[in-house]
Amino acid sequence: MDDGGATLNLGDHTLDLSAVPARMGNHGVDIGSLRAQTRTVTYDPGFANTASAQSTITYIDGTAGKLTHRGYAIEDLANSCGFLEVAFLLLFGHLPNKAELEEWQASMNRHSLLNEELKRFFDAFPKQAHPMAILSSATNAISTFYEEYHNPKDEASVIESAQRLIAKMPTVAAWAYKKSTGFPYIYPRNDLRYVANFLHMMFALPTEEYHVDPVIAKALNVLLILHADHGQNCSTATVRFVGSSQANLFASVAAGMNALWGPLHGGANQAVVEMLAEIANDPSASTESYIARAKDKNDPFRLMGFGHRVYNNYDPRARILKKFADDVLDRVEGDDPLLRIAEELEEAALSDEYFQERNLYPNVDFYSGIIFRALGFPMRMFTVLFAIGRLPGWIANWKEMTEDPATRIARPRQIYVGEESRRFIPLHQR
Ligand code: ACO
Repeated sequence: MDDGGATLNLGDHTLDLSAVPARMGNHGVDIGSLRAQTRTVTYDPGFANTASAQSTITYIDGTAGKLTHRGYAIEDLANSCGFLEVAFLLLFGHLPNKAELEEWQASMNRHSLLNEELKRFFDAFPKQAHPMAILSSATNAISTFYEEYHNPKDEASVIESAQRLIAKMPTVAAWAYKKSTGFPYIYPRNDLRYVANFLHMMFALPTEEYHVDPVIAKALNVLLILHADHGQNCSTATVRFVGSSQANLFASVAAGMNALWGPLHGGANQAVVEMLAEIANDPSASTESYIARAKDKNDPFRLMGFGHRVYNNYDPRARILKKFADDVLDRVEGDDPLLRIAEELEEAALSDEYFQERNLYPNVDFYSGIIFRALGFPMRMFTVLFAIGRLPGWIANWKEMTEDPATRIARPRQIYVGEESRRFIPLHQR
């Protein structure tokens, strides 16, 4: 059809599927009436070909390797903005003016403390608990202190909850880390900006002065911006999915955190550094042997930090980070053998037919872990840092979903391929 729609012939049925035009990128066709009219459903594992929402937040051009938030290029945002400015942009659709930004920053200070009762909550975890488990559990737990703000249809409550979540997440993350070290929890400070405050809570001790290194704060600011949103990825889609049942914002975000934890998603930043360390520590290993393993279909190993559902070009975030890794390492740590191994691996993969044919390029996680490490973060905190960065994106998507009149509870169909009908056998006869 000329208007971008489609005509579908299916058995005796001819169906006109109307167009769902995009401003940029893939257009859609509306298959909403397909099952009612033909008793047929679409089958799309991993939703690789399914748009679950119309969105105005983030646009990815996977072929050109471009990423924009609300129309602004990621490169401009990463070069010129603070993380809270980008969070505001994602949530409200425009860059804040000075007064808006000041009020937004003030709201972060207002809400950064945790209820004292939550301290016992951190104490209850075993020392070796993964901080992602603590982060998502704490996010759910925080919801119990603010039940009067749970109504997803009340805009003021949603904004208040969004501020609480963004403000408290660095405190939760830093306390999850302190728990694992056995050192005392450090309270947030209102004289410090968002990123500096987080670094202070992570690394300060009550016994001595701690000065936040501005180079580290600046680098972390850029990293958080680069993680702030990325369309309908696994964790964001999870947040929307859970929120579509009108579950509250805290509960929806906690679910997104659990999705992020997986090694195929945000957990890849930890997995990349583990992989690089394995290569560095194994005298018999070489980049070639790892490339060979990644290509071997009988080996479950994958080159972590490589490949992406949407990009068939270099991930623009990885491009920024690759350059950034050298700068950061020069300024804070000096050389890191893992960065050299990563560069060797990248070069070997990009010149290998297997990776070329499948358009497999480094993604954001390939270099981020190396930089987090250089900034002094322990490996198990890497995915937590991703979560702090992604939080505004999750909230913006949840808000957009609740405000969209087209939203219905997410409830995919299935194609049943199990037993048809079986005669029941009582327990004593089985
Ligand atoms: N190493 C080796 N082969 C790979 C890799 C990899 N990292 N990634 C994809 N492939 C191969 C697959 O085996 C498949 O080959 P085939 O066509 O011969 O079967 C082909 O490339 C397509 O891969 P799919 O798994 O179908 O792609 P999908 O879009 O489903 O998965 C994913 C994307 C999960 C990111 C995948 O590339 C991967 O596992 N990468 C490693 C983990 C990773 O870095 N995750 C972080 C992603 S970015 C993020 O979430 C922030």
